Amino acid sequence: MISLQYAAALATLLLATANAATPTSSYLPQSSPAFLPKFSAPTGVITAWPPANTAAALPSGPLSTAAFTLSGYPAMNEVVKNAATDPNIVPVIAAIDWTKVPNIPPTNDTIGASYPSSDPNCWWTKGGCVTPKISYIPQDIYYCPTPGTWGLTYDDGPMYYYPVTAENSKWAEPNLYDYLLNHNNQKADLFYIGSKVMGAPAAAQRGLNDGHVICSHTWSHPSMTTLTNAEVVAEFYYSLRMMKEVLGITPKCWRPPYGDVDDRVRAIAWQMGMRTIIWDLDTNDWNINGDQVAPGPGAITYTEANNTVNGWITNRENGNDTKQGHVVLEHELSNATITLTEFWLPTIQKLYNTMPATACNNIAQPYWEESFVYPIQGKVAVNTNGTSSTTPVTTISGSNSTSSSSSGTGSSGPSVVKSGAAAGQIQAVTSVMGLVFAAAVALVL
Ligand SMILES: *[C@@H]1O[C@H](CO)[C@@H](O)[C@H](O)[C@H]1NC(C)=O
Ligand SMILES: *[C@@H]1O[C@H](CO)[C@@H](O)[C@H](O)[C@H]1NC(C)=O
Ligand SMILES: *[C@@H]1O[C@H](CO)[C@@H](O)[C@H](O)[C@H]1NC(C)=O
Ligand SMILES: *[C@@H]1O[C@H](CO)[C@@H](O)[C@H](O)[C@H]1NC(C)=O
Ligand SMILES: *[C@@H]1O[C@H](CO)[C@@H](O)[C@H](O)[C@H]1NC(C)=O
Ligand SMILES: *[C@@H]1O[C@H](CO)[C@@H](O)[C@H](O)[C@H]1NC(C)=O
Ligand SMILES: [Zn+2]
Repeated sequence: MISLQYAAALATLLLATANAATPTSSYLPQSSPAFLPKFSAPTGVITAWPPANTAAALPSGPLSTAAFTLSGYPAMNEVVKNAATDPNIVPVIAAIDWTKVPNIPPTNDTIGASYPSSDPNCWWTKGGCVTPKISYIPQDIYYCPTPGTWGLTYDDGPMYYYPVTAENSKWAEPNLYDYLLNHNNQKADLFYIGSKVMGAPAAAQRGLNDGHVICSHTWSHPSMTTLTNAEVVAEFYYSLRMMKEVLGITPKCWRPPYGDVDDRVRAIAWQMGMRTIIWDLDTNDWNINGDQVAPGPGAITYTEANNTVNGWITNRENGNDTKQGHVVLEHELSNATITLTEFWLPTIQKLYNTMPATACNNIAQPYWEESFVYPIQGKVAVNTNGTSSTTPVTTISGSNSTSSSSSGTGSSGPSVVKSGAAAGQIQAVTSVMGLVFAAAVALVL
């Protein structure tokens, strides 16, 4: 069954690649988002990377208890209501060139069932498409070009606990951030949900201050292709606004919840300053059942997720994983996801050159605030729009910098390698349960 799913997913992916428009580096021009309020610089966070005081130890241990006053945001963990008439959203809608946003209706399970196999909208959920059918938007970032590289990414943070109990709180941040710091000062991409930053601003500040790369994971974690244009804009707007207010940064990178993206959503994200990042390996940690912190209707056991990662590791140890590096989907979401990632990280670090997915794709400046310049795998940085950058960069020490291609340039690269588990996820999200299933997961988050 698993191998059938794998074969079907792979066939769809290859078809999607064959039909893809030729990638180009002349993408629609972007500009630094002018639609956000002019916040005064937040206190408690760095304003550059490397930080001003490079000799100081990076922060660890208990989080700051400083109070935050955050106002002007919609209800947490809900799709923004009345987005089309929201006075914050109306000017952003007006600033978007809608002739460059494909006129694709919001998806629903009906359209999912009858959606053409030619995949006209490059809908990832349906077939894993990562190369837009519109020429003016770059390919999604979804793997590390250099073999032996592990692109470390965590979604759904910053993790805090609910309900608040002493037992639960031990899995919340700074648990993972401290662990990473204590394990070779490991850096990762953190895809933050705007609502969660509002719930745990001090944890978000720790993530930035420790040198992780922060990207957007929307305001409320919906299936983005199901939303209206105004709702899509609002999900991006409030997430970016929250990160600008709390962290002082405006990310150029985002990841769609459930991977649910099509060319309409990509085009809106791009015009709001962001490039789409997916993955090529899914631990399925988000789908672990019966977790203490986030008890929910997950479909797999901890052992199954553990076996998935163990399978990749065994493959690598056997010299079988040498074609491309990976961008791996993990979560800071529950004790299960934290336990899983902390169990495997030391082994992964031994077998792979481990770094943020942005770093292995040579994106040194992932924010519009260009004072942040992170180390990358290669010697030359690329901008998220595919052009090379003249900014001097630091190469991640010990990295293999002989990378011959970069998805940052829009080269089409190898097709997505899906684990059986990832193929299972595609099937789960697109078949019978469809968006109902996604909604159930959203409730858990
Ligand atoms: C690409 O992005 C960089 C950095 O934001 C910018 O300076 C440059 O003008 C952009 N180039 C194109 C062709 O869009
Ligand atoms: C699903 O979308 C199609 C196309 O936009 C529409 O005709 C149909 O009414 C929608 N179905 C539901 C149940 O919303
Ligand atoms: C996860 O898998 C590894 C490798 O097989 C094993 O050593 C470990 O005990 C497993 N963890 C759990 C909790 O089953
Ligand atoms: C490599 O992977 C293939 C396919 O999964 C498998 O049949 C083979 O035994 C593996 N080789 C090694 C040395 O692990
Ligand atoms: C979550 O934490 C509780 C208490 O420490 C533990 O009993 C349970 O096994 C954990 N769940 C997972 C999936 O690790
Ligand atoms: C870097 O990777 C290339 C391609 O996999 C390999 O040929 C080369 O030996 C590696 N160099 C180092 C220093 O690891
Ligand atoms: Zn998520």
